[in-house]
Order: sequence, then structure tokens, then C-alpha cells
Amino acid sequence: MHFSSLAICAAALCGMASAAPALSARDCSAEAAAMNLARRAKRGLSPRSIYPNMPNEICVLAPEIPKTNYVRSGSVVRNNVSDGQAGVQLFMDIGVLDITTCKPLTNTVVEIWSPNAVGKYSNTALRGAYPTGANGIAEIQTIFPGFTSDGANHINIAVHSGDSMSTTTSHNGRVFFTDGWTNIIGMSSPYNQNTNTRIMDLDDPIYIDANSNGYTAVVDIEEINDDWPEGIVGYITVGINPSLVVN
Ligand SMILES: *[C@@H]1O[C@H](CO)[C@@H](O)[C@H](O)[C@H]1NC(C)=O
Repeated sequence: MHFSSLAICAAALCGMASAAPALSARDCSAEAAAMNLARRAKRGLSPRSIYPNMPNEICVLAPEIPKTNYVRSGSVVRNNVSDGQAGVQLFMDIGVLDITTCKPLTNTVVEIWSPNAVGKYSNTALRGAYPTGANGIAEIQTIFPGFTSDGANHINIAVHSGDSMSTTTSHNGRVFFTDGWTNIIGMSSPYNQNTNTRIMDLDDPIYIDANSNGYTAVVDIEEINDDWPEGIVGYITVGINPSLVVN
């Protein structure tokens, strides 16, 4: 069922890096669904939360975008980048699939960096990198970001090709949140002191590119104990071609 989106993903990948091997269209939706089922149980979320058809079953984020607000020294390998920043705890659960094999990619470093609750980037806080485990999932604790004036509310993400920060980057992009979640959390303190210009999802061309032609780059949110102020879990699956280099 996801054949058409994968065909587009493959075409986009081939178009972006002529050095990359040509990919034949491949539907990884079954493998992605199995991965998604397995990853929910460990959070102890109630069974009603567990469903196989996440909207982001397979996601090659589009387009590749330059690393902005990026400070290499800030990408320390650690699985908790919250740094005592005020805000709603967000446990990012980032699955990485190799779209050339449909297999989860283990030991693959995922970097994230985002602004704080009032939409300000710091050189060190809320930045870090962590490798995927045996299940192909990198779990990184952070906080729900505040919006910036340069696009719809998002977290920046980079996926490396291997197990250290020195390996090449195979994907740079943004993962987004629904306007609804940004609205709800944005009414709480200190998010409600954000003075940046709010850009709604559909008013951001990067959001539109990342969520069209079969791409989905919206983080799927679950509330811990059905109560978001206690924290939320954010699921996203990223399909990458590890031989692609986008540094
Ligand atoms: C992550 O760091 C924050 C402080 O920034 C701390 O409150 C929280 O307990 C840490 N999480 C874990 C699982 O240790």
C-alpha cells in the first residue's frame, strides 16, 4: 500500500546524490509496522495505544536540508539532552530503517537538536546524539520544543551511516508536530512566554515538502499516563539509505 510513496522516496534519493547506488522501489511498510508494534509495549503504554498503522510507517524525510543551528561540539553522545530545561519531557523514540533492505539499522547514530520552550537555541542544551539499539531505535530524552520564527514547530534530526559521530551523514531534516500539540503545550508555562512568530504547519514550505508525495514527517505523540504534563513519547520512523552521503 505504500508502494507509491516508496517509489517517490527512491526517486528522490537517486536525484539527490548521483553517487548513491540506484534503488529499486521497495515497500517496507510491513517491516515498519512490525517495528512499530514491538516498540510500543516497552513503554508500558496501555494496549489501546498500540496500533500497527502509524502514519509514519516509512518516512524518508524530504527534502534534505542544510544543518542549521548546528553546533558540532554540542552533539555529545548521550541519551538525555534535557539539561534541566523547563518544559514538557519528551521521550523521542526514533526508529531507523534501511530502505535498501527494509531492516532496522542498529548502532546508527541519530542526532537531535532543538530550541527550548520559548523557542531559543542554545549552544549546548537540547543537543545530543545516540546510537540505535538492537531494535533499530534510538531513544533520546529531551523536551517538547518551543516554536521558532523560521518554520513550523520542529526538532532537527541527522542520521549518520554508522556507530559514531565521525561517520558520514545519510539524512538531515526536520520532524514536526501537529499544530494541535503545539497549541496545547504552548498554552502552558514557560511555552506561553515564547515571543517568536508562530508559523502553522501548512504555512511552512519545508513542512509541506516533508509531508507530501507520500512523505510523513510528523511525530506521533502518546501521553504518559494519559496526562501530557507528565511527559510524552514521540514516535517517528526514518528510512535512510546508509550509503547516501549528505554531509
Ligand atoms: C534527564 O535529565 C533531566 C534533567 O535535565 C532529569 O530531570 C531526568 O530525570 C533525566 N532522565 C533520566 C531518565 O534520568
